[in-house]
Amino acid sequence: MKHVSFLLGIAMLLVIVANAQINLPQTWKFHTGDDPEWNQPDFNDSQWENIKIGSPWEDEGHPGYDGFAWYRTKVLIPSSLKSKSSLSQSLKIALGKIDDGDQVYLNGKLIGQNAERGGTIEQGDYNAERVYELPIDDPAIRWDQENTIAVRVLDHGGDGGMWAGPYYVNTTGISDYVTIDDHTDNFHFRERTHLSKKIMLKCTSDQGHFSGKLTIQVVNPDNQQAVWEKAVPASFSASRPFAYTYSFTLPADRSYEAKYVFTDSRLKGSVTAGEGIPYILTPPPSQKPQINGATVTGVRMGHPFLFRIPATGKRPMEFFAKDLPEGLHLDKATGIITGTVSTAGAYRVMLTAKNSMGTADRELTIKAGDMIGLTPAMGWNSWNVWGLSVNEKKVEAAADAMLKNGLANHGWTYINIDDGWERPERAANGEIVPNSKFPDMKALANYIHGKGLKMGIYSSPGPKTCGGFTGSYQHEAQDAHTYAGWGIDYLKYDWCSYGGIAPKNPDLYWYQKPYKLMDSALQTVSRDIYFSLCQYGMGDVWKWGAEVGGNSWRTTGDINDSWQSMSGIGFHQNKCAPYAGPGHWNDPDMLVVGEVGWGPSLHNTHLSPNEQYTHISLWCLLSAPLLIGCDMSHMDDFTRSLLTNDEVLALDQDPLGKEATQVAEIDSVRIYKKDLVDGNKAVGLFNVSSGPASVRLDFSTLGLSGSQRLRDLWRQKNVGTFTGSYEAKNIPAHGVLLLKVTGEK
Ligand code: GLA
Repeated sequence: MKHVSFLLGIAMLLVIVANAQINLPQTWKFHTGDDPEWNQPDFNDSQWENIKIGSPWEDEGHPGYDGFAWYRTKVLIPSSLKSKSSLSQSLKIALGKIDDGDQVYLNGKLIGQNAERGGTIEQGDYNAERVYELPIDDPAIRWDQENTIAVRVLDHGGDGGMWAGPYYVNTTGISDYVTIDDHTDNFHFRERTHLSKKIMLKCTSDQGHFSGKLTIQVVNPDNQQAVWEKAVPASFSASRPFAYTYSFTLPADRSYEAKYVFTDSRLKGSVTAGEGIPYILTPPPSQKPQINGATVTGVRMGHPFLFRIPATGKRPMEFFAKDLPEGLHLDKATGIITGTVSTAGAYRVMLTAKNSMGTADRELTIKAGDMIGLTPAMGWNSWNVWGLSVNEKKVEAAADAMLKNGLANHGWTYINIDDGWERPERAANGEIVPNSKFPDMKALANYIHGKGLKMGIYSSPGPKTCGGFTGSYQHEAQDAHTYAGWGIDYLKYDWCSYGGIAPKNPDLYWYQKPYKLMDSALQTVSRDIYFSLCQYGMGDVWKWGAEVGGNSWRTTGDINDSWQSMSGIGFHQNKCAPYAGPGHWNDPDMLVVGEVGWGPSLHNTHLSPNEQYTHISLWCLLSAPLLIGCDMSHMDDFTRSLLTNDEVLALDQDPLGKEATQVAEIDSVRIYKKDLVDGNKAVGLFNVSSGPASVRLDFSTLGLSGSQRLRDLWRQKNVGTFTGSYEAKNIPAHGVLLLKVTGEK
């Protein structure tokens, strides 16, 4: 009987043996609070509640809970996990990401904390992957028996708990010692479909010499057929990595995957890696002039106006502006309009760009009144790339790159410094002072303005910012004046450390108070400062952000360059959508395409190319502020193509300012619709599954009847005219088909 119940018990643990790896159960035992007894294997947790791991405990029935809590599970660890290879082995337990700090016990023994970053549980990094290892002969491991994993978590604020996987137990093998590094280099486009890339084989610990074969395949994801393949001999050791550059031609401008396999000739097992291959859909800009970007802009009376006409086409180019309001002046050579407007009104100005290839005209409405941010801000922000390591040189380089890359010709305007610029002490008169990384803010603003671009800065309403720098607490009016004096055009205003000023569970009054205060300070300065609230959506900020003067407000916590983060944010904006409109936008956080890093060392985004198409398409449909978060001075062709598609960007900048919502979900495809000012609809067909998907787009889902003309916006090509519905075929995994739908008259 005992034996049978033991076996049943094991079956109940929902342990799945797949590829020799033991996947941990999805449901664990959970208790808030803290007690050292809870790490013990024989502690009876049967009265504890069941909780799903893989999402924050806020989403699993504990909204707003901060502090200590424990998760426990049981798992059978079979000795078959041990391999007979000559490599030295450890047992590893993967527990994904834990918000914020953790200590992990196996059968009562502490085996790791905070992803072994040292320090105490108070110093955990919510975003670090937890994989804890212990020697294979450690007596704490109960081979072929039930083991108890207990996880003690401390959450300081916001979301908490075991919020993201993967969750498994395995022994280390060749794949723990050999890495296929496909992130050292980007794909290089020699022509649109001719690419090359360097990949490296590295040995991550001194386990001797590896020798075998590296196979590279380019695979069509629809049928898993290789369209190109190569195998090369490879040998390497810890001190001597192996590098190989492969080049190939893609049969078409569409999604393919690269698969890499290293097989060692002596050892069991192989190491695999894979990635999406970027494909450029945006057509190259014509040599003929074309005016891009927003068709409407706002300015307050008597405040400095700055607008650089965004135009693509061969240089030199000459610019003209007919019916400019009095007080504004155009520099014909640069296309930069400056000055002030003293009379309220909506001025319809005809802009012209002319070069040796032709002429382009486009109307711009300048609304002089009390509103700015009439379309979502487009620019760059230092955070997702440089984090706290931002400095003047990097900001100047961003402004230079904005022009050199041609991004400014597509409407990109703001160059925003995020956290990390402030000195710890204020001046004797209380003024905020930049630290030594920013020797002269005013000169920097002049430099940026000289290019026709605008400059942004960052602060927090508490005494300290999120990065621990000086915040604006009790200096709000003074700071607003200092910013204006420097020439700042955009203020991102966080929440950090205001939690210590407001009561523990703030009500609406407290949520709004710091923003009202800064807004009234900004109202007294004589320049337009776009006011960007950053308090992660607390108190349903979308319902009142506009009321407290916000031109935009973050609706979520911080984004990172993973599918889980980007899609988790992007596909959960429906509830906020009704509150967006000209002058006030929902902000699902900044972009994570290109080289990102949140600190001095950068990596190419971990989003696949298809996920990046989804990211940009979705943010444009959502009328989101678009803030590039990568190193623009090293921008590859693919990233540039994502950020310079005028038909896609036009959705974001559409003057109607209607945010898209999801109108249907058919199997794995989410259908988003955005109403446009010209009566047309923009439609995103997003495939959230990990394989290609086809879907029928029924026009009645969009509220349309009759024949519809479809245009593929990324390719800038008409698809055809259809009646009733359209069959969209093979939308790539995590990818999108972005359409404009126009009713046939
Ligand atoms: C918060 C914000 C980020 C960034 C950092 C700076 O986390 O959400 O976007 O501004 O602060 O410390």
